[in-house]
Amino acid sequence: MISQGLTGALKALPLVCALVARAVADDYRPAFHFCPAENWMNEPNGLIQINSTWHLFYQADPAANVWGNECWGHATSSDLLHWDHLPVAIPVENGIESFTGTSYYDSNNTSGLGTSTNPPYLAFFTGYTESNKTQDQRLAYSTDLGQTWVKFAGNPIIGAAQEAPQDISGGLESRDPKVFFHAPSGKWVMVLAHGGQDKLTFWTSLDAKNWTWVSDLSSSQIEGFPSSITGWEVPDMFQLPIQGIKKTTWVLIFTPAQGSPPGGNGVVALTGSFDGETFVADPVDPSTLWLDYGRDFDGALSWENVPASDGRRIIAAVMNSYGSNPPTTTWKGMLSFPRTLALKQIGSKQYFLQQPVAELSTIDGSLTSIQNQTITPNQTLLSSIHGTSLDIRMAFVIDSGATLSLAVRKGGSEQTVIRYFQSNSTLSVDRTASGDISYDPAAGGVHTAQLAQDNTELVHIWALIDTCSVEVFGGEGEAVISDLIFPSNSSDGLSLEVSGGTAMLRSVNVSSVSL
Ligand code: FRU
Repeated sequence: MISQGLTGALKALPLVCALVARAVADDYRPAFHFCPAENWMNEPNGLIQINSTWHLFYQADPAANVWGNECWGHATSSDLLHWDHLPVAIPVENGIESFTGTSYYDSNNTSGLGTSTNPPYLAFFTGYTESNKTQDQRLAYSTDLGQTWVKFAGNPIIGAAQEAPQDISGGLESRDPKVFFHAPSGKWVMVLAHGGQDKLTFWTSLDAKNWTWVSDLSSSQIEGFPSSITGWEVPDMFQLPIQGIKKTTWVLIFTPAQGSPPGGNGVVALTGSFDGETFVADPVDPSTLWLDYGRDFDGALSWENVPASDGRRIIAAVMNSYGSNPPTTTWKGMLSFPRTLALKQIGSKQYFLQQPVAELSTIDGSLTSIQNQTITPNQTLLSSIHGTSLDIRMAFVIDSGATLSLAVRKGGSEQTVIRYFQSNSTLSVDRTASGDISYDPAAGGVHTAQLAQDNTELVHIWALIDTCSVEVFGGEGEAVISDLIFPSNSSDGLSLEVSGGTAMLRSVNVSSVSL
């Protein structure tokens, strides 16, 4: 038995080697999402548009595909689709790693780090010293439009001793500076996260180099904020117009490490007022608190310096909440597809709306288009369409009690199923048969979000499928589910089915997305 098994195994070896070689060669690399050329990334950092160039910095370990030796990786794009990989922007130096932070244009050269005719771009990051675990706040600047960055000679700009009174860990848990210039007060504002203390602190400065603590924001100050949402990290803050009532409000987003609907980390969004020193949060409605109901949208930040003529607030996060466990070998961690963030008042509720950026529509890879067709329970549509990087947009009216199911990355016994349940107005992504889910206990499962039909009874679903990721935007983008999947290369089929009634497909458009 043993020798037969061994002989069989030896005979199968070339096939196994060929399969492994193929898997490693493809290695689940996305076709239209950013991922590092090689090795590790976690969340985006310092997102900023400079002239027409979108700069992406990101937490990277360029030498290994596990978290560690963190620095700011760098890539640029003219369209948020095609990315050029650039050298590390803010490296590890003297044992001090460059943790998460943000960038801002110092248009008046208040820092004095540029000149009035060539003002500097500033990057604020946390310096992490592995040997004593200190987290302090640091500054780097660029006078060549973001191509290269110089660390400020007077770093740290906020040291552990200055943090200590505001941080019960004495500066071991103060990180991820979001910095912006607040014109009404004429001051720079920094928002810092204090991880396990479930609070943010606010600091101000006249020159972006000398900082004074001004206020705290903790969960007890936010009416209705569930105490189960803990481990606050990666804050971002900006203003957004509220569609429907012609008002503008402050928005604060951050990533708690625990307490999201699918478990683990996720991104919350608050609205409130801000006077330059204190953020007063509006009471929280738990049903509109989370930006994403999937497992893989963490550490979201937004691009700064987008001109008013564009006017969009565009966010992106890292898709990967399983550390080094996902079964990719040459890279780990990818950027979510950039999405606009808007706010809309509907009745008494405010909804955050997210949609893939319009640049996606510049790619014309139409595979099929269905208009005004009824689908009944004995039919399967889309089964002749194949693809692993797809843009699928659907609008339909569905019978009371019926369920519409769109299976993607389908082949053999594998499929990832996007469903809409009319009976309880629920959108879901089912990863239970999606492929390899053995790499992490949180890798499978079904994730759900509430999604109502619009006032003409249409349900809208926009799904981006890219090799190992699924991002599903429901309605106007008020219900979003983002998840990683790891199917076999050959699982490239689709199917569209209905059960428990019929659905009138107003439109179904499937496009292949390849750059
Ligand atoms: C979030 C985070 C940040 C920190 C960074 C380090 O995932 O823990 O708080 O700055 O990762 O890589």
